[in-house]
Amino acid sequence: MAWKLSSLGHEALRQRIGEASMGPVALAQSSRLVAWGRDTVRRRAEAITDRTLRGIVLGLLDNPTPYCDPQAGLSRLSFEVAAGGSWLGHHPYPGGLVVHTGINLRRALDSAALYREVYDLTVDEDLLAAAVILHDVMKAYTNQFYPRWDDRHGCFYEPETVRKGGLFAKWGDVRTMGHHNELVVAEMMVREAPPELVFATHCHQDQYADSRRNHRFVPPGDETWERTVEEALRKVPDTAAAPYRDTYLDERFRTLEAGLNYLSDGDWVITGAKAGPIARKALVAVIEAAGLVTDSREANLTALWLFSKLDPMRILGEWQLGGLAAAQDLIVASLIDPSDLVVS
Ligand SMILES: [Fe+2]
Ligand SMILES: [Fe+2]
Repeated sequence: MAWKLSSLGHEALRQRIGEASMGPVALAQSSRLVAWGRDTVRRRAEAITDRTLRGIVLGLLDNPTPYCDPQAGLSRLSFEVAAGGSWLGHHPYPGGLVVHTGINLRRALDSAALYREVYDLTVDEDLLAAAVILHDVMKAYTNQFYPRWDDRHGCFYEPETVRKGGLFAKWGDVRTMGHHNELVVAEMMVREAPPELVFATHCHQDQYADSRRNHRFVPPGDETWERTVEEALRKVPDTAAAPYRDTYLDERFRTLEAGLNYLSDGDWVITGAKAGPIARKALVAVIEAAGLVTDSREANLTALWLFSKLDPMRILGEWQLGGLAAAQDLIVASLIDPSDLVVS
């Protein structure tokens, strides 16, 4: 029997689209999941004992406005409301960035504990926590829901600087989200962050696939760890670049903390590549059953409302147990009664 949307489901969908029209800040702030991410990240950031590291971390969390766009007017809310990945990729909803960062932080610290237990390795947990917390901080700018968002299409706002032709436009074939990574490296140089923090934060590419050795994982001209640093060095004022230009190839900065940050960020392999397609498929089925057009503003607002409360990972879990119909049923049940998903 074909799956059908109940009249209660229709009514709930209309109501949720109306709520999402009020804007992404309210969506993020009403979500239990986002509150977990926000509090997990903030608590660890404030607990960093090293004053210099804590100063850089809290400075970026509270004001991620990049040096290249001083009018952007970002604030703490920009970080706490930003999307975590590309449009409908991993954590693509208001507050997705803090959820992604919180998950990575837990994974990194758990791995540090395991390495300590098994290998007797000493991990600098302050450095690791700072690097993980900052690794995607510039998504506050590139995946922006506050102060600007794309109200017309119902998705996040992408500033000119990171669009085609912009100073920090995406480049590379393998991982095309490199803009936020190059931006954070450049921004930290301008803010005079310690080199060990800059180089451990930069985790989009693996230091192992070293472009100087023509590694087989590195297509010519594509993003690598070194090439991204070199791009950033070219874009910041010379005085800001100097301390990093002389040190970025130094073996001292091929740290355990940089490696753990890279591994922890691998979470998108599941959240983006496995949960994302299933969740999108289930949501499209609900959208189409409601007579809405896929990729329309209303469809996008539904995605923002739903995923900010029910991460695609939850939908993946339901699909594994009961297939697509079960995933669709979970979506509709959440639209009708989200009381377990919202902060009271
Ligand atoms: Fe990233
Ligand atoms: Fe990330």
